[in-house]
Order: sequence, then C-alpha cells, then structure tokens
Amino acid sequence: MFENLTKAPGDKILALMGEYAADSRSTKIDLGVGVYKDEQGVTPVMRSVRKAEERILSNEKQRLTSASPATRGYGAAVLDLVLADSIDRSRVRIAQAPGGTGSLWVLMQLINRARPGATVYVSDPTWANHNPIAINSGLKVATYPYFDPETRGVKFEQMLAALDRLGAEDVVLLHGCCHNPTGANLTDAQWDQVAESLVRTGALPFIDLAYLGFGDGIEADAYGTRKILSSVPEAVVAFSGSKNFGLYRERVGAAILVARNAEQAETTNSQLLNIIRGAYSQPPDHGAEIIRTILEDASLRAEWEEELAVMRNRMISLRKKLADAIRERSNSTDFDFVADHRGMFSLLGLTNDAVEHLKATNGVYMTGDSRINVAGIPEDRVGDLADAFLGAVR
Ligand SMILES: Cc1ncc(COP(=O)(O)O)c(C=O)c1O
Repeated sequence: MFENLTKAPGDKILALMGEYAADSRSTKIDLGVGVYKDEQGVTPVMRSVRKAEERILSNEKQRLTSASPATRGYGAAVLDLVLADSIDRSRVRIAQAPGGTGSLWVLMQLINRARPGATVYVSDPTWANHNPIAINSGLKVATYPYFDPETRGVKFEQMLAALDRLGAEDVVLLHGCCHNPTGANLTDAQWDQVAESLVRTGALPFIDLAYLGFGDGIEADAYGTRKILSSVPEAVVAFSGSKNFGLYRERVGAAILVARNAEQAETTNSQLLNIIRGAYSQPPDHGAEIIRTILEDASLRAEWEEELAVMRNRMISLRKKLADAIRERSNSTDFDFVADHRGMFSLLGLTNDAVEHLKATNGVYMTGDSRINVAGIPEDRVGDLADAFLGAVR
C-alpha cells in the first residue's frame, strides 16, 4: 500500500526547535516558536482558565458526545465576543471546531463544495499553513500584495488594486488582526476601504481571526472583522481560542458563516455540519467548555480580559524596548517598525544569511523568513538582541 509514498517535507518550526534544544549556549534566545511566553519564558495556564476548569470538573456528571457542534452556549458566547451587535444573527451560523486550523479546514471544504476549485487569494506572505489547507481542500491559491520589505508596513495601494480586480467567484483570506508572519496590520480606514472593495467585487471574505485581543484590545482587534461582516452579503470567519485563552493543545476554535439571508444560512450550515460529521464527527469539548464558562461569567470574564491585557501590554512594551534599544545604538529609525507592528510576530526583513549569522554567532533563533516572536524576547537581554540585530545587518 504505502510503498509508492515518498517522504513528506519536515516541519520547519519543529526542525528549528530541535536545533535550539541541541544548542548548548546558555545565552541562546528562542524567537522562533509561535506561542506566547511570559517573563519567565513559560506559556502560562491562565488563572481564569484554571478556575473555569475547576468549576467544570466539579459540576461534570457525564461525558456524552455533545448534541450539536455549537453546544451549550459556546457558539453564542463566541459570536458575542467576535461580532458584538455588528450583524443580524439570523444570517449567522457557528460551529465549534478543533482550533483555528480545524475551522480553516472545514470552511475551505465548505467553499470547495460551493465552488469546486475556487481560488483563495492569500496575503504575500501569509501563515505557512494557509496554502496546504486550501490545496488539500481542493482549492487553488494565489496571492495579493501585502508586506512591503522596504517600509515593513502594508503595501496598501497595491493590495487594494489587486483586491479590486477579483470577481464574485474568488475568495480573499484576510488576517483579522495581528498578521502572521509580518506583524503589519491594516488601519481602521484601510479596513473600510477593503470592505468597500469586497462589496464592489463580490469576492468572498474569509477572515482568519487567530489572535483576537493580542494586538490593541478585543474591540480594536475586532474592528476589521465587524466592518467586513456588516458590509458584505456573505463571509466566513475562522476563530481560534488557542492564543487568547492559552488553550493551545485543547484545540478550540469556531467556524463562523454569514449568509445572504436566514434561509441560505440554514442550507449552508447543513453542508458545514455534514462536512464536520464526515471528518471528525464531533469537535473536542473541553477547551470550548472553558471558553463558554469564562465568557458567560462576569467575574471570570473580567479576570480573563485582565490577563489578556497583561499579555498584550507585555508584547507592546517589548516591541518598544527593542526599537528604542536599536535606535539608541544605531542612531537610525530603521527598526522602528517593530514598535508599530502588533501581535506576537514581526517580520524583520533580514536576508537568509543574516538569519543564519544570528543563529551561529549569537544563538538567536528565528524562522528562516526572519519572523521573530516578540513574546520570546527576554526583558533583560533586549540590549544584547539589539546589538545582535545590528551586527547581522551591517
Ligand atoms: C494566522 C493563524 N491562523 C490560524 C492559526 C491556527 O490556530 P490553532 O492553533 O488554533 O489551530 C494560527 C496559529 O499559529 C495562525 O497563526
């Protein structure tokens, strides 16, 4: 059976983690892995999550499969969080799904059922998994201009011009906030223009919302998603609770769909549920139950929002510290973009040689495209990092 298979390419991040683990230098710094870390370098279990879990465990009577993929309030709680009152809910359906990845997967499958072989336009560059998920779902992938390696900001005019050329048969994948890998994001005014473009062309917006609350706050980070969803007739959103609730391995997310009207929402949702049934039958429940418990309880929700703010503010402060340290040393504003970026990542725009040099000479690890995870910056090593980055670009 399997003799015709050739070896699939290995995962680059796992390979980088292996290299980092094998590096015996005590001064090494890991900016590669894409998980949040606190000042101790630990990815913490949030207190609100712990409390919700204790409550769930003490109340739990049985572990039957859930009756529907958006059970017991989880769906409504996530819709309140993501959409607030931006859109009439009769046109909206939500299915609990295994993480942002599982949500992307079932929504790509749904699009391929609706329009087999449609093209998904992704930002150049985008999260490395978008391409395989789309291709494995039967879709095609093309890119629209996004990151400007000169300014390290968004090439907005080129992006908009490309989006304006799309048609109603196309899909546009947008990062709702905290763009991965670049850290460069749209302003509210730019989101408004993207929404107008989508209304003009009729292309389907597909929003990947994996970092809600990691950028400038829940409301600010939801602006683009709400703007698009309140403007267009149809859209889909892949929500992840992995980062903002620190629930990575629980695999919790949601596939949200917005249809033209309630009737079409019902029909489209029946196809989505059919895809889910034929893929993994039921999503994992524990993470979703934690999120529901937190979002439905005023005091747990307040505690979660505070914890989320601590994570967010730590990343913003590390960005500023790094940009300041580089400016002080170099007298140039070349790295100021790090402070303007938002979310966990910044794409530094370094050459592959510079990335290799940082690894070999300084023990500073980042992905080959020069993406750094700012949450991995040790507070007391910001100066060393600034020196290393300047050394690598000289
Ligand atoms: C842009 C983007 N989308 C989706 C995901 C997937 O999230 P999850 O870990 O919940 O599957 C990630 C995770 O790294 C991501 O960066």
